[in-house]
This record gives sequence, structure tokens and C-alpha cells, in this order.
Amino acid sequence: MLRIGMLTSGGDCQALNAAMRGVVKGIFSARDDVEIYGFQDGYRGLIYSDFKMLTSRDFSGILTRGGTILGTSRQPFKMMRVPDENGLDKVEAMKHTYHKLSLDCLVILGGNGTHKTANMLREEGLNVITLPKTIDNDLWGTEMTFGFQSAVDVATDTIDRIHTTATSHSRVFIIEVMGHKVGHVTLHAGIAGGADIVLIPEIPYDIDVIADVIQGRSAAGKSFTILAVAEGAISREDAKLSKKEYKEKLAKRKYPSIAYELAEQIEKATGKEVRITVPGHTQRGGSPVPYDRVFSSRVGAKAADMILNSQYGYMVGMKNGETVAVPLEEVAGKLKFVDPKCSLIKEARMVGISFGDREGDEPAEEIAAAEDVRAAEADTKKEKKEKKAKKDKKEKSKKSKKEK
Ligand code: F6P
Repeated sequence: MLRIGMLTSGGDCQALNAAMRGVVKGIFSARDDVEIYGFQDGYRGLIYSDFKMLTSRDFSGILTRGGTILGTSRQPFKMMRVPDENGLDKVEAMKHTYHKLSLDCLVILGGNGTHKTANMLREEGLNVITLPKTIDNDLWGTEMTFGFQSAVDVATDTIDRIHTTATSHSRVFIIEVMGHKVGHVTLHAGIAGGADIVLIPEIPYDIDVIADVIQGRSAAGKSFTILAVAEGAISREDAKLSKKEYKEKLAKRKYPSIAYELAEQIEKATGKEVRITVPGHTQRGGSPVPYDRVFSSRVGAKAADMILNSQYGYMVGMKNGETVAVPLEEVAGKLKFVDPKCSLIKEARMVGISFGDREGDEPAEEIAAAEDVRAAEADTKKEKKEKKAKKDKKEKSKKSKKEK
């Protein structure tokens, strides 16, 4: 009997179901004596032994379905070694579930944080195979992640739709694109949608350059400008701040996100009306595009092949268009950024896209700092969330005391 545990962890994306289908179909193509245990809501299901037994039928008809049939949740890697509110050791609990069910392996679908925990479970002696899921395409060790092309499709469609209304008005439009700390989605959607300015975290921007581009377009008779802005985009000044200084700045920031800060700066510098569109989670929703269906089926089938050969401790990735096994210890904890000197950036510049920098700017130093400040931003967001949760809890207990 082959017993496989499966879970999807972190933010969802398109093609999670297609990837699981690939694994299950691949395994059942070779043997029948297989039990599949689907853990509910990612690592949470593994920690609290919340699972359902699934058959191959459960994976039928889900190739095109968005989301994940297993549910998902964010279980930060940082918190994995911290006992839960009842003192439960989460790592021991996950190992206990694994052994209790006599699993032969765990198939884990996830992004960066998920891979850190997957690698830890490997170090703890569990058999693990992972699949590269994230719209951000920022996983180290693979050229591609599933969800990415679908997200680019949605973001591009948003830019296309803005284009038609932009041509009717003399306005500046900002489309804020997801991608966490990296700019892959923004870069691709920006080029595909014909954005005039593309701002990504890997190339810190200068607001004066942005204003010059907008004014230059106006002078050339083009009264509108479209900016594709990564949610993690950062100015040159901010990129130079220390992590602590930037954290302090963010704590005081009055804007909900970078697009709003930029809009105010652009209006001030150019006198033009600015509009903001944030497609947000629509970029992760809906059906996967054909590329993602094919790619996720391939990595799923490759994972099945590896399970059938008891080859564990790897992420299935893609290199030069071929599926490959990448050791988990090489993947965990590393991000794949856009290389500001890559040919794609160079070619984008040649077709007239501005990255908000000046020719000859040496971004290397700023990039290092930008990575730091993005981490600071994540910390601040988390602290704010924790503070709010504490406050809500306090108010709830006050209320229930009053009611009593
Ligand atoms: O990692 C995928 C992603 O969509 C990022 O692009 C984005 O920053 C983040 O997740 C949003 O997370 P959540 O769904 O928890 O708001």
C-alpha cells in the first residue's frame, strides 16, 4: 500500500487543483493500492490531524477549477517552532500525524514560506515532495511557478481595460499589481498591456523621472499615461533607508499602499489627475490559463514519477523547459528576483518602457537595501495585524463579560 498525504499551503492560486490531479492521475496510472490523505487548510490540517481520505474520483473534473479543493491557510514558518495557544508543539504534532497514518510521503504545494517548512519537515526525517505554486514566480530553483501566467493574464486584462478608458480621458492611471517582494507579474503584465511606466522593487524609482516621462508624453500629444506598479515598488530614497528607518516610516504612512503614495506625488509634480486601480486578489482567482494547466499537469506527473521511485526531498521545478528535481535545501529561504540587467528589461526599455530610473543609474546598492525594507514592511504589516487581533480579542472578552 502506498499512502500519500497532500496539502496546499499559503496564498492560493490558479492550477493548484490541476497540479494535484496530475500527481494522483500519475500515481494511479502505475498502481491501484494507493491511499490519498488530503489535509485541510494546509499545514493546519497536518498539525491538528484534520484530513479526509480521497479517491482518484475526487481529482476528476478539477483541471480547470480555480482555488484548491483542500483549502489553504497561512501558517508562518517563523511560528512553526512556537507552541500554539494550548502549548502544542506544532512540529511534533505534524510528525505525529504523519507517522500515525503511516504515510510514505507528503506532497506539499506552496510558495516561499511553505518551502521553508517543507524543508524543515524533511530535516525532521519525513519524506517530502513539493510543487512550485505562486503567482509571484519568485521561487528559487525553477524558471516558472504555476499561477504566474494566469495572474499575468488577469493583470494584463486590467491594463487593457484601463487603456480604453485612459484614451478617453487626459489622466494618469496607476494599476497596482501583486507580486509581494518581486516584480515578475508587473513586468510581464506591464509589457503585455503596453504600460508606459513599469515600477518593480528590483529597480527603485525616482519620482522626478516619472514626472518627466508623463510631461514628455503630454508634450508629444499623448495626454494619458499608464503605470503598472508592483505592490512592492520602492523609491530610491526609501531603498536607501535602513530597515529600522523604513519600518518607522511605514508605521506612520497614511496610504493603504504604494499606488496611493505615488498618485499624490504625481499629482503634485505634474498637476495631472491620477486614478488608481487595484485588481488585488482577482489576480489569483478563476480558471488557470492553458499554460498553467499544462505546466501544473507536468510537474504533478513528474512528482508522481518520483514518488513511484521513492525519490524524496525535492521540489519539482522547470529548467530550460524540462521538469527537474531540485533539492529542497537549495530552494528553501531564497527568493528569485527580477534581474535588472536581464535582456527582458533591456528589451522593455527598447520598446519605450520607463522603469522610473535614469540611464546609468547603478541600482545594485539600492536593491540590497530594498530587499531589507520589504522585509521591514512585511514585519510592520504583521505587527499591525497582531495588534488588531489582540485588541479585537480584548474587546470581545469585555463584551462577553458585560453580557454575563
Ligand atoms: O504570494 C502571493 C500573494 O498573492 C502576493 O502576491 C501578495 O502579496 C500576497 O499573496 C497577498 O496575501 P494575502 O492573500 O494573504 O492577502
